[in-house]
Order: sequence, then C-alpha cells, then structure tokens
Amino acid sequence: MKHLLSIKNLHVSIKNKDIIKGINLDIDSGQIHAIMGPNGSGKSTLALTLMGHPKYSIQKGQILFEGKDIINLLVDQRARLGMFLALQHPYEIEGVTLRDFLRQSYNSIYSDKHLSPKEFNDLLNQKMKDLNISESFVCRYLNVGFSGGEKKLAETLQMAVLNPKFIILDELDSGLDIDALQNVCKAINKLKELNPKLSILVITHYQRILKFLKPDFVHVMQDGKIIKSGGKELAEELEKIGYKKT
Ligand SMILES: Nc1ncnc2c1ncn2[C@@H]1O[C@H](COP(=O)(O)OP(=O)(O)OP(=O)(O)O)[C@@H](O)[C@H]1O
Ligand SMILES: [Mg+2]
Repeated sequence: MKHLLSIKNLHVSIKNKDIIKGINLDIDSGQIHAIMGPNGSGKSTLALTLMGHPKYSIQKGQILFEGKDIINLLVDQRARLGMFLALQHPYEIEGVTLRDFLRQSYNSIYSDKHLSPKEFNDLLNQKMKDLNISESFVCRYLNVGFSGGEKKLAETLQMAVLNPKFIILDELDSGLDIDALQNVCKAINKLKELNPKLSILVITHYQRILKFLKPDFVHVMQDGKIIKSGGKELAEELEKIGYKKT
C-alpha cells in the first residue's frame, strides 16, 4: 500500500550543522502519530522541513507525499497537495480580519474553485458551526489580542476551511491551560470525525494532549534520530521515567 507520507533516510542540516540524522517514518491515511523528545532533538526542524521551510537544507533522503517526492516543491505547492503546519507561534496581522485571511488562503489553495465572498461565507459559516465558533471571532484582526487558546482555535478553523490531508501540530499544547487544550482538541477531533482519512503528526513534550488526540503510534526523537517507536503506552512510560532511560 502507498503511504500518505513516507520519510526515507532523511538528513537535514542548518548552517552546516547536522540536525536530522537519518529519519525513517511512514504515516498512512487516517493515522495519528506523535513525536516526543527532549529540547533541541530536531522535532521542529523535522516539521519545518516537511513543510518546505527554505532555511533547512536536505542533505540526503526523500520525503514522499502520496508517493511523489516533494523535496523540490515550495511551501505553497505542498499546501496545495494537502499538507498543513499549525504554527507554535501564529503571526498577528493588524488590519486583516480572520475571515479575509481564511478566504484569501482558500482561494489561493483552491485557485480552480475561486469562491465569491458570499459563497465563501456560506462555507465558512458551516465550518464555524461544526467547530462551535462564534461570528464575532472571525471579524477580529488575525490573531491580534487573541489568547493562546484562541490562536490555536483560529489555526484549527483554518484547517477546517482548507481541508488538508495531513496536518502537523508543533507543540499545539504549549501555553494552553487544560480547558483551552481540551477545546482545541475537541475541534481537531471534530475535523477527524468529518474526515476520517485525515492524518496527524503531533509534536509534544507532554502526554496530556495525547489523552485528547489519541495516537496510533508514538516515536521518541533524540539527537536527530527516532530512537524508539511504540503505541500510546510509550507516551505514558516516557512521562513516568523521562527520556534518559528509554
Ligand atoms: N536557525 C538556526 N540556526 C542554528 N541552529 C538552529 C536553527 N534552528 C534550529 N537550530 C538547532 O537545531 C537543533 C534542533 O532544534 P529544534 O528546534 O528542531 O528542536 P526541537 O526538538 O523542536 O526542540 P524543542 O523541544 O525545544 O522545541 C537545536 O540544536 C537548534 O539550536
Ligand atoms: Mg520545537
């Protein structure tokens, strides 16, 4: 079977420093994978490399999405294929409402469909209803004055509108209190319920997010490599004993 995402012997460096040192990982349609690991082990580097950040240079290996090597594709081309990265620190943009931002994003990803403001509003209203998001939320300027939880909810609404096949959540849980985390995870689970084929890569330090977004596989990353993989029980084990003894 063809994997949705297949990472083969990936080596990545930044400013001549090797960060990712041979990663292999296959993610199938509908699966949730979690990556845990100490600070500086290369988790964000992996996330940004998958999405095509130009700062990272691939020294060796392949990244296949639906069987096609995407290494030479730009970020927007990867987004059009159905990849999405939820940022740890989403940008604030004064003067651009969340609604306008979402419409522009939609129209650039789906340039063949190009929706009018009215058609887009119908689509957006449905997504807001699905995620239980109020009208006033999308009238605010993008992330300006949003709480940590609201920023993550805005990212989730963007996922709902763009309907990606694969999402990467890089420390979605950082800075969120338990209620905000539960709220955002509820919204993500709703997306998964509406689209069971959605695949998710959750990068986190804490097991608590994995109680809400239940992973099929957990991987431990250390010094640029995946040193251990297992089921969700591995996350519980890590939380108890730490990374050192794995
Ligand atoms: N722009 C950069 N310039 C130099 N080194 C960098 C740069 N970006 C990342 N690195 C280095 O790459 C290594 C991996 O960083 P990365 O952010 O991927 O780790 P991480 O696993 O996401 O850590 P954390 O859990 O703290 O988020 C670190 O040693 C970091 O200093
Ligand atoms: Mg990181």
